[in-house]
Amino acid sequence: MKKIAFALGLALIVTTPALAQDKGIDAATLEKYTKAMWPKTPEGWESRIAYDDTMKICSETRNQPSDADFAKIKAREAATVKFPADGNVMGDYKSGLKIANNGRGGTFTDKPMTNGANCYACHQLDLQEVSYGTLGPSLHLYGKNRGFKPEEAKAAYAKIYNSMGTAPCTNMPRFGYHGFLTEQQMKDLTAMLFDPNSPVNK
Ligand code: HEC
Repeated sequence: MKKIAFALGLALIVTTPALAQDKGIDAATLEKYTKAMWPKTPEGWESRIAYDDTMKICSETRNQPSDADFAKIKAREAATVKFPADGNVMGDYKSGLKIANNGRGGTFTDKPMTNGANCYACHQLDLQEVSYGTLGPSLHLYGKNRGFKPEEAKAAYAKIYNSMGTAPCTNMPRFGYHGFLTEQQMKDLTAMLFDPNSPVNK
């Protein structure tokens, strides 16, 4: 249920402006209405609903940016990725599996480290988990199919950090860019995909 709620929340964030456009509601009215929805929120919360340059283009073009914007977004988002200082992107796959299957987090009082990544809401991962979404491709055997190559693991870390660095206007969240997950959590998730012992690769 939590997974469904999370996926729905994301879908709402992504699709609301487009729906509003269909009904002829202008952006200023929408913003005013959105802000009125949370009267008792902590200071600085407005930045959470403000579009950055990338989301603005994705929203305005309904996730179909022009070729020029696609290239611009890709370069800009890829440049935000911060790799671990020691270059090691592999954490603990067992912890990664727990984080991937945790759908809580993202409320105003949640801190990174208590946030879950909810990867299963959109991806199949290991075959033991029967409940998963199909918005994203199956990631079963992800590391194995890539020969467990360190540069592929690094690319997966970057994907988790900022999904738009490879796929502008994707539905996949930008977990590291938004500070939603910690470096350790993203390393654990990378290990979940690339450790040969991980059930994802069985
Ligand atoms: C809201 C849905 C959603 C969530 C949550 C999500 N993803 Fe994705 N993911 C996608 C979609 C859609 C794609 C395909 C488009 C793209 O590449 O971004 C994708 C692509 C990927 C890819 C690239 C697959 C390839 O073809 O090489 C990886 C790796 C990945 N996701 C890992 C993860 C991990 C790990 C998590 C959890 C930390 C996660 N995703 C959470 C939607 C999601």
